Amino acid sequence: MIDFDAIPRSALPALLRSAPKAELHIHIEGSLEPELIFALAQRNGVALAYESVEALRAAYDFSDLQSFLDIYYAGASVLLHEADFHAMAMAYFARAAADKVVHAELFFDPQTHTDRGVPIGVVIAGLARACADARSQFGIAASLILCFLRHLSEAAALATLEAALPWRQHLVGVGLDSSERGHPPEKFAQVFARARALGLHLVAHAGEEGPPAYIESALDVLRVERIDHGVRCVESPALVARLAAERVPLTVCPLSNVKLCVFKTLAEHNLPALLAAGLCATVNSDDPAYFGGYLNDNLIATFEALPQLGAAEAYTLLRNSFEASFATPQAKAAWVDRLDQVFRAAA
Ligand code: ADE
Ligand code: ZN
Repeated sequence: MIDFDAIPRSALPALLRSAPKAELHIHIEGSLEPELIFALAQRNGVALAYESVEALRAAYDFSDLQSFLDIYYAGASVLLHEADFHAMAMAYFARAAADKVVHAELFFDPQTHTDRGVPIGVVIAGLARACADARSQFGIAASLILCFLRHLSEAAALATLEAALPWRQHLVGVGLDSSERGHPPEKFAQVFARARALGLHLVAHAGEEGPPAYIESALDVLRVERIDHGVRCVESPALVARLAAERVPLTVCPLSNVKLCVFKTLAEHNLPALLAAGLCATVNSDDPAYFGGYLNDNLIATFEALPQLGAAEAYTLLRNSFEASFATPQAKAAWVDRLDQVFRAAA
């Protein structure tokens, strides 16, 4: 037993910083910092619509998901070569290691690159080499989740999955991202069935801007194992009860939700309600270069803004990050042991 009541709130920032954790919702293209965007643009001769790093950063003032996606896809246009994808992911892993991330499942959007003429093998080779280097340089266990862009057709998603098959061994799963409204999960029923037959894990963004019905169809039609975001589930008490009973993980991204106006402020975020309902919620950074912070920034800002969250919730969130991951049972057990030690030492 860990005596959570013995851990004062004042100890939480240091504890959150030093505890081991998994990151399950990070779009690697969303970790491209403006400085790296400009460096790659110069190296690759790509023209940008912004004069300077400062001007680009100043444009990060979003009104909704689409207003962000427009800038995010423009930022990704500087990625052309295997070394660019490797450099982007290594910059993320260095930040993640500083945050004591020991396991990371990275989303990537191949269609953003293949539609510009970059071969999918170039994308996956650079990211997969970075995942191998993450283990040797930082001790991070990293894997890749190929995401389909939901504003494009299912035929395009199917073609993307088939094109990725020579690199199947580098993929742990598939996901679904981009513009949610008007693009329900059921649009991608066939490609998720195909991915399932290939033995890939399945996740999907749902209930970020879209209604609870999208969370239900992600579960029932796509048969996903985790819901990315999912915060709008609270609009359906029956759905909340189901998510709790089935222990469906939600990969929640608090700073993202505020930047994209899903919640007005962090103080109004529903993370405490999700945890109180017994949901397997986790905290993640989504697109850290665009939303003002990496994983520890998300954790610390969220705990600071929400006094209902204490040491027990901190432990639960970090434990959930391992439980919800696609790591082996042995790896999960070892990380939870380490987490227990860190919390016991603080109590
Ligand atoms: N792609 C990158 N970030 C995303 C988000 N928060 N929602 C949907 N698609 C995304
Ligand atoms: Zn996301």
